[in-house]
Amino acid sequence: MDAYWMPFTANRQFKKAPRLLAKAKDMHFWTPEGRQILDGIAGLWCVNAGHARPKIVKAIAEQAAELDYAPPFNMAHPKAFELAERLVQLTPAGLDKVFFTNSGSESVDTALKMAIAYHRARGEGTRTRLIGRERGYHGVNFGGISVGGIVGNRKTFGPALGGIDHIRHTHDLARNAYSRGVPAHGAELADDLERLVALHDASTIAAVIVEPVAGSTGVLLPPQGYLERLRAICDKHGILLIFDEVITGFGRLGAPFGATHFGVTPDLMTVAKGISNGCVPMGAVFCKRAIHDVFMTGPEHLIEFAHGYTYSA
Ligand SMILES: Cc1ncc(COP(=O)(O)O)c(C=O)c1O
Repeated sequence: MDAYWMPFTANRQFKKAPRLLAKAKDMHFWTPEGRQILDGIAGLWCVNAGHARPKIVKAIAEQAAELDYAPPFNMAHPKAFELAERLVQLTPAGLDKVFFTNSGSESVDTALKMAIAYHRARGEGTRTRLIGRERGYHGVNFGGISVGGIVGNRKTFGPALGGIDHIRHTHDLARNAYSRGVPAHGAELADDLERLVALHDASTIAAVIVEPVAGSTGVLLPPQGYLERLRAICDKHGILLIFDEVITGFGRLGAPFGATHFGVTPDLMTVAKGISNGCVPMGAVFCKRAIHDVFMTGPEHLIEFAHGYTYSA
C-alpha cells in the first residue's frame, strides 16, 4: 500500500483501515472478502447505467481487439464521428457540435479556452475574464479550480488563473429550508452577474460557468427562474453561458441533461462521467454550431483550435 498516493483521500487514515472494492455488478460492489455493498452514489456519480453491463463489457473488449488506439490529431477513426452524431441527438437543440476529452476537469478547461478563443476569433480579444460561482466545483485543473468556488480546493495552489471572478452561490437556508423541489427564493441572485458586469465591464467578460445543480458542497438546486435569469443577462451582455453537466448529464435528473430538464440552453456544455458509464475515462464539450463556425474561417490547411489530448476521441 506504500507506493500509491490516493486522490482526495486522507491517505494515512485510509491505509490504517482500507475500504477496498474488488468487484461490481449492477448496483452493488463486493469487497475482497466478499461483502456486498449497495453502490448508493453510482461509483462517483458516473455509473449511471449500472456496473458491468454485458453490452458495455463486450463493446470495450471488441474495440480493444479491433483498434486499440488511433491518433486523434490529423487522423481519426470512424466511431468517433459516429458517436458524435449519436450524442448530438440527445442534446438540447442547437448544441450540435462536440469536442472529446477524457475527464470533467479537461472538459471544463476545454470549454473555458473555447470561450476565450471564440471571442478573440470574432475580434473581441478583450473578453478574457471568466466568471464562476461560489461553492461551484469544476474539477481540479488550473482553469477549473480558478472558476471553482470551493476554498479547500483553491487555497493551496497559489493564484491560479488571473482575471477570474465569482457570482454568489444560491444556497439560502434562511429562506428555502425544508422547501420541496426547486426552491422558491433566489432568482434575483442571478443579478449578481450584473454587479460583476458593472465592476469589470461586459467587454472584458468571456463566459460564466455554473452547474445547473451544484453537486459538491451539497446538492444545491437552482432557485425557480434563476437559470433563465442568468441566461437573459448573458444574452444581454454577449457573455457565453457554460453549464457544467459533468454530474447532471446523461440522465441524472431524469432528462438527458440539466439543460433539458430546466429548459435553459447554454452556449457550451461540459460532460464526462455518465458519457461512458464510468467504464473508460471520457468527457466532452458540446457547443452551439455558431461558436464552432467562428473557428472555421481562416486558411483551410491551418489548425482551427490549438487544443486536444492524446486520448481525445
Ligand atoms: C460539476 C463537475 N465538474 C467537473 C468535475 C471534474 O470531473 P473529473 O473528476 O472527471 O475531472 C466534476 C467531478 O466530480 C464535477 O462534479
